[in-house]
Amino acid sequence: MLEQKILTLKTQALEEIKKATNEKEAVVLKVKYLGRKSELNEILKGLKDLSPEEKRKIGHLANTVKDEIIDELIKTEKLITSKNFDWDGEKIDISVPGRRIKVGHLHILSKIQREIEDIFTGMGFEIADGPEVETEFYNFDALNIPANHPARDKWDTFWVKSGDRIALRPHTSPVQIRYMEKHQPPFGIIAPGKCFRCEATDMKHEHTFYQFEALMVGEDINVGNFKYIGEQFFSQFFKKDIKVRLRPSFFPFTEPSFEFDISCTVCGGKGCRTCKNAGWLEIGGAGMVNQEVFVASGYKRNAYQGFAWGFGLERLAMMKYKIDDIRLFHSGDLRFIKQF
Ligand code: PHE
Repeated sequence: MLEQKILTLKTQALEEIKKATNEKEAVVLKVKYLGRKSELNEILKGLKDLSPEEKRKIGHLANTVKDEIIDELIKTEKLITSKNFDWDGEKIDISVPGRRIKVGHLHILSKIQREIEDIFTGMGFEIADGPEVETEFYNFDALNIPANHPARDKWDTFWVKSGDRIALRPHTSPVQIRYMEKHQPPFGIIAPGKCFRCEATDMKHEHTFYQFEALMVGEDINVGNFKYIGEQFFSQFFKKDIKVRLRPSFFPFTEPSFEFDISCTVCGGKGCRTCKNAGWLEIGGAGMVNQEVFVASGYKRNAYQGFAWGFGLERLAMMKYKIDDIRLFHSGDLRFIKQF
């Protein structure tokens, strides 16, 4: 009985829908056959009173018919729209500009890092890596910075609450030890990466920043090699002749230690606003590797010599692109990021 009723409904609906010639008629038929008060809907609502077996049979049939009616309606609506469309009146304005597809790009710091890596691999250096969450041994002890030594204050950092003396690394120098434990000289490496310090932030200081470490070790690597590599790197990086100046300094892991300056990238050394008339710009810390560091890495004392430095990546980017506030790099401000 019900089955017959559904099938008759289907024939009737499909026929009527096919005959519709405008949108209004189509809408009326949609309401008539699929609406809340339609016969089909009443049947579907009544399914709950049927026996399980009938429920399955009738339910299946009613839903199939519903789908068929929907399909027929869609087909007819499409036909109506295309018939009514004024194809002759259609004009395509080929001068309208296309929609621009937005393409992302590398962050300025990633670009600088790759540039630095390219220059150093070009000079035969290898790229080394180490963890950002580092043990006290690699962060400090192996670098000749014993517990309770005042030098530790300089690298005040974020300790992990684990009881194992683990901290976010305050510099990339721990990579020196990790590399030397596994490799024998001669070698040259750089280790770019993220560092953290417990800093009060200002235009020149951030709690999260990038450094790149350099380490070159062999039987007779000397300060001359060091200066030469430095000059080569900075001249290529700034695409002009750069001179290097070393001033005495102190780091527990180098002996002797230096502050590393380069000739002003703006005036070349004559004196200008950028270098505050000094002719030189400070770059970072450096020195000849302390024998204690070699020993902590498993080498024999006095078997090798080497140089090391740790420079800030942001600082180099700031000098190259005349950026005046380090906090911009990690601000996520697209107006800044899009400029590079
Ligand atoms: N690790 C030092 C710092 O972050 C820099 C440095 C590296 C100095 C290597 C000498 C040799 O301050």
